[in-house]
Amino acid sequence: MIDVMMRNIENNDLFNVECLAKKAFWNLNMPGCDEHYLIHRLWNSEVCVQELSLLAEYEGAIIGAILYARAKIKTVNGEVETLTFGPLCVEPSIQKNGVGKLLLEKSMEKAKVLGFSSIFICGVPTYYPKYGFKTADKFGITLPDGTNFDAFMGIELIKGSLDNTSGKFYEPDVYCGDIHNERYMLEVECFDKSFPYMEKKVLPHQWR
Ligand SMILES: CC(C)(COP(=O)(O)OP(=O)(O)OC[C@H]1O[C@@H](n2cnc3c(N)ncnc32)[C@H](O)[C@@H]1OP(=O)(O)O)[C@@H](O)C(=O)NCCC(=O)NCCS
Repeated sequence: MIDVMMRNIENNDLFNVECLAKKAFWNLNMPGCDEHYLIHRLWNSEVCVQELSLLAEYEGAIIGAILYARAKIKTVNGEVETLTFGPLCVEPSIQKNGVGKLLLEKSMEKAKVLGFSSIFICGVPTYYPKYGFKTADKFGITLPDGTNFDAFMGIELIKGSLDNTSGKFYEPDVYCGDIHNERYMLEVECFDKSFPYMEKKVLPHQWR
């Protein structure tokens, strides 16, 4: 475990956090990535929970970050507030040193203190169960189209808070960038021009 310092993301960290996200996600799930653009859109949106959004620093450089947003579960009785997060990312050369774990655990503790009661995400299905996340179907929660899959997971920050809360999870629109939409991809490409160049590659494990 390396000795990292964690603190809230400030406005003037934004570009460096976006650079980190680009490095961490580039060619991971698709040729190139759009996570740096997602951060850009999320940070100044009304759904971003800036007080929960953290970065990790090591030797003066930003090496990890997590950003949170308000989300909703629509039930038969109305809407219930929940949280979502993403991107969570760690500098590739420092991955598997416990930084992701620290960011996740620290931000979840803070979320609980701030009174949030649950979190739902679509994320790596082999990673988040280590921290108590369960597939969303265990809570009777589906995606808006009524489906569930392994990567769609949730956690109760307050035990029992999801009892009798079955319904549909709605993530904020900023997370719904459609990479098959030409206009959206032009926006991503235009945004990416202010970042250091990285070559796009088609790789077998990409799923987006
Ligand atoms: C996923 C990510 C955030 C994890 O952060 P990290 O600092 O590398 O992870 P940690 O060192 O805290 O790992 C904690 C544990 O999870 C495991 N782990 C790390 N990355 C994993 C992955 N992608 N899948 C499954 N397990 C993983 C580690 O081996 C470790 O296991 P252990 O406790 O049994 O030793 C980081 O690897 C990353 O930025 N990846 C690229 C972007 C990404 O996929 N983000 C998540 C999107 S949902």
